[in-house]
Amino acid sequence: MIDFHSHILPDIDDGSKSYEESLAMLEEARNVGFDQIISTSHYAIDCYEAPEYKRKRLIDDLNLEANLPNIILGSEIFLTYNIIELLKEYKASTINGTNYVLFELPLRQQFPNLKDVINRLKENNYIPILAHPERYFIVQKNFKLLYELKELGVLFQANYGSIIGKYGFAAKQTVKKMFKNNLISLLGTDAHKEKSIYLEVPKAISYISKYISNSELEKLTTTNAEKILRGEYL
Ligand SMILES: [Fe+2]
Repeated sequence: MIDFHSHILPDIDDGSKSYEESLAMLEEARNVGFDQIISTSHYAIDCYEAPEYKRKRLIDDLNLEANLPNIILGSEIFLTYNIIELLKEYKASTINGTNYVLFELPLRQQFPNLKDVINRLKENNYIPILAHPERYFIVQKNFKLLYELKELGVLFQANYGSIIGKYGFAAKQTVKKMFKNNLISLLGTDAHKEKSIYLEVPKAISYISKYISNSELEKLTTTNAEKILRGEYL
């Protein structure tokens, strides 16, 4: 399986706090079946701004450790009108150097000009992926927004934790509805620390199996991410 969303790198954002914690998280991830983990450290202007070269160096170090999942470069970019510049200047990163871009929105507020920024990404040949849509108030209150975003070419990545209630009732209900309406393309842990979500992934997968077929589950946990890493269209 491929974990499409993680804060596995040490001391880059609010995720892992040390090299040792990153190793512990990688072990937990391996033990529940992940062989690749996309590192999606937050990139948020004036808050988390570790440039690509710095994150690449950490990934190279961790990937030298034996018998652990392989880490792949990415970012979770807090949406900004300047997102294209952040990518072109190798501040924030696309997923594995492809045209796929994982972005997040404010949890509780509207993002002004959301559709304009998405169109700007598309005009520049990027393929936007919205991180954990089920966690945003604007989606919980207005589910049809997902169809409008899908129409603009946005893909959706849901969190394993949402299905087991880690982010509250509204997120749980929203993610269930997303599964039932085939709106999810990818799953990620959004892991920030050890002894947390990785340990609960098997439980989350057994819940998800109630809503989707085994072949669909295979796509969301593994094969869609493989295609994205190769830069192919889903
Ligand atoms: Fe995240």
